[in-house]
Amino acid sequence: MHLGVNIDHVATIRQARGTTYPCPIQAAKDCLEAGADGITAHLREDRRHIQDKDMETLAAMAKAGELHLNMEMAATDEMVSIACQLKPQAVCLVPEKREELTTEGGLDVAGHINRLTDVVARLNDAGCAVSMFIDPVVKQIEASQTIEASVIELHTGHYANFSGETQAAELQSIQEGAKYAADLGLIVHAGHGLTMDNTQPMVDIAEIEGLNIGHAIVADAVFVGLKQATADFKALMKR
Ligand code: PXP
Repeated sequence: MHLGVNIDHVATIRQARGTTYPCPIQAAKDCLEAGADGITAHLREDRRHIQDKDMETLAAMAKAGELHLNMEMAATDEMVSIACQLKPQAVCLVPEKREELTTEGGLDVAGHINRLTDVVARLNDAGCAVSMFIDPVVKQIEASQTIEASVIELHTGHYANFSGETQAAELQSIQEGAKYAADLGLIVHAGHGLTMDNTQPMVDIAEIEGLNIGHAIVADAVFVGLKQATADFKALMKR
């Protein structure tokens, strides 16, 4: 199972003080050394954490075969043009609102078929595998196939935030959504809000091929160090 470590949270600490440290590129190297299979980074419109220079460095490392880069971004003209220049191996399209603390929900692919068909085609032409960050809803899964995305990333944020019966119901939606998407031929990833305590049910879903995890790894790193935190998740994800 592919572990993509989201290093935005390291950049968030750096930006909080306007310093040059901690360096997200060094974090990426440490995560890879500890067993991560790839690095995920979100270049937000407001540049609140990852900066253009960070993404350029990561893309140069990806080009040199040093890492698998998954660039998260909104489907704006600015971001599509940056991704087409940098050509990361993977792009994940996410909804973005200026005022949100983090990505709050899945992308409404079904409601933006024409626009997203064009964006996916441009990114595919640049050689990027394109993923849609969506809620586990049939309409959004089918729309992702319609616009010729090859990957979906199921949003696990609600599952992570809920508890009891509502969490069980959300888990069931993720299980059914993953199966439905895999049967359609889509590659299935998942992510958001995953921790050492709530990740196991995702590992148990055979159709999910990869997880993107950030906040919990950086949070755990405060106590055990980044390499150990990454290795702990990687061990949990062994099938
Ligand atoms: N996947 C996507 C699309 C995201 O936007 C994020 C958060 O940046 C993650 C995964 C990782 O979420 P978390 O930081 O909560 O582990």
